[in-house]
Amino acid sequence: MITAHLDSVNVTRGPMIAPSLLSADFARLADEAQRVADADWLHVDVMDAHFVPNLTLGLPVVEAIQRVSPVPLDCHLMIEAPERWAPGYAEAGARNVTVHAEACTDPRAVARDLRAAGALAGLAVKPGTPLEAYLDVLPEFDTLLVMTVEPGFGGQAFIPEVLPKVRQARRLVASGDLTLFVEVDGGINADTIEQAAEAGADVFVAGSAVYGADDPARAIAALRARAAAASRR
Ligand code: DX5
Ligand code: ZN
Repeated sequence: MITAHLDSVNVTRGPMIAPSLLSADFARLADEAQRVADADWLHVDVMDAHFVPNLTLGLPVVEAIQRVSPVPLDCHLMIEAPERWAPGYAEAGARNVTVHAEACTDPRAVARDLRAAGALAGLAVKPGTPLEAYLDVLPEFDTLLVMTVEPGFGGQAFIPEVLPKVRQARRLVASGDLTLFVEVDGGINADTIEQAAEAGADVFVAGSAVYGADDPARAIAALRARAAAASRR
């Protein structure tokens, strides 16, 4: 049962903040992970220069981060052929591994492999990708990552036109049709997190808003408080 699977990994309740290492100093990844020790998940953007026009890091670096991170890893795979590569990230110990719906030929099989390897299974959709085509496979997933920018780069502006899709996902969870986290990624900051929380997101990725702040710990606390207040409205 999906609920049992979520419980089995002892997930936090309430809004979760996942700082994105994409905006961190790549020469000091261990220190940068420590700076966000009070976050809920540490978001790691894996890009292959094919699915997106940018290249970041891969499994050996994620394995190294996993060894030193005080926070569970949330790996966001912006790569082609996720069927082939995603299970390795789960085997490395990531808490949640998300693949892109647009890159998958068999999302159901990826979800099963990720869960079998002990991770939560995530499905990501780009801003222009509707949920309808994936409604039948989403029961196999624990996380739905709704991109609020085009994937590929940090520091872009939040796309509010995606919010109806967040609301649609929240309705499906509220009605009991799905049991998953609704995660938003891209352009989340103090000005935009409330809209995303009101729409029903419960996991918030923030790159530049956390690592661009003088005090990342304070930025995380402020984002969490804003999300909690907005989601109670
Ligand atoms: C973009 C990445 C995001 C990125 C978010 O493709 O998936 O995780 O790091 O960065 P900000 O929060 O700066 O938009
Ligand atoms: Zn991401």
